[in-house]
Amino acid sequence: MNVALVVCGGIAAYKACEVLRLLQKAGCDVRVAMTEDAQRFVGATTFEALSHHEVVTSLYGMRESSVPHVDLADFADAIVVVPATANVIAKMRAGIADDAASTTLVAAHCPVLVAPAMNVHMWKSAATQENVRTLASRGVRFVMPESGHLACGYVGEGKLAQVEDVCAATLEALGAGARGRDLEGRTLMVTAGPTHEAIDPVRFIANASTGKMGYAIAAAARRRGARVRLVSGPVSIEAPEGVELERVVSAAEMHDAAMRAFEGADACVCCAAVADYTPVAPADHKLKKSAEHLDCIELVETADILADLSAEKGSRVVVGFAAETEALLAHAKAKLERKGCDLIVANDVSRPESTFGADTNRVALVSAEGVEQLDVMPLDAVADEVLDRVAALLGSDDE
Ligand code: CTP
Repeated sequence: MNVALVVCGGIAAYKACEVLRLLQKAGCDVRVAMTEDAQRFVGATTFEALSHHEVVTSLYGMRESSVPHVDLADFADAIVVVPATANVIAKMRAGIADDAASTTLVAAHCPVLVAPAMNVHMWKSAATQENVRTLASRGVRFVMPESGHLACGYVGEGKLAQVEDVCAATLEALGAGARGRDLEGRTLMVTAGPTHEAIDPVRFIANASTGKMGYAIAAAARRRGARVRLVSGPVSIEAPEGVELERVVSAAEMHDAAMRAFEGADACVCCAAVADYTPVAPADHKLKKSAEHLDCIELVETADILADLSAEKGSRVVVGFAAETEALLAHAKAKLERKGCDLIVANDVSRPESTFGADTNRVALVSAEGVEQLDVMPLDAVADEVLDRVAALLGSDDE
């Protein structure tokens, strides 16, 4: 496991030494790139001695490589930026390559993790927050800063995350975390996407779901060794490798497919945005606006798939989602009760980082044990968090 550690110019640069040592203890070969400013805080000699490799401080005149940025990016199975300054985050977003560290980041073709540390106002600035959101949507993983006493004298958010957490996130990105193939031997059913409820042969009632979250859960479960049955409404994305895909259109079809797919499964995650109502009597011909009633469509409630799966679950694990635009936690708690599932993943779809179609999500995990609010993360990281809870619930059931 090869890690490139990119050290930038902030007081937390000294903590990068600890991150390096922890990664080495976990079995990683670590090579370092430093910005010029980083070297004002900690000398390159320190990192050279710790890593047993020449530290990349320039694109020119390096002993061990004539193209150090490309060689370092090629070497790395993961790159971690510690501490990440507002400057390097902005450069990463823009693709600016004006020194060895930023050029290595542009040349990266592996998971990239960023552990920011800076003054609270710099962290909260609109520019930094927008840069973070954009990078997260491109798949960059953030190990979010903590609140506390900052070196600049302020108290607030901006302190580098615990070095243990930075190391754990890096190992996880390397696929060497505790997860491994922890769902091997398990069967998971996932519902995803919207449903289309026909009004007539050319019109339907739909919603803005893209299926991305459900597909990310299916992909993560496959990675972790599960057999995955994916029941999907109409979406325009590819199914992940190795999942058993059943395409459906309407809520009624999804209900039937999901109930069947849950037979013999160990758990299910209902991510689909199922229509709550469907036209009572869809027309068999295209309705004509002048001749027929298009101003009033009689609707009937659809069956609640999540509630029906929960009613039959026995000791199996059932997870639902709650997409809300207000009173997120209150609605999510009510849904947990009403539907009888083990966990509700609640997200506020009125926020840009967690809206339909986004590549990130910010969710709260609501269960009988309480509420756990997670940071904004790329969808695959959210998927792994949800599956961690599924794995824990399955595990506790085996005992
Ligand atoms: N769900 C379902 N079948 C339905 C409606 C919803 O399985 N007919 C599931 C969704 O897949 C999701 C959860 O129930 O896991 C919550 O969906 P949501 O649309 O947020 O809630 P609703 O039950 O529709 O409640 P409301 O419209 O009051 O928000």
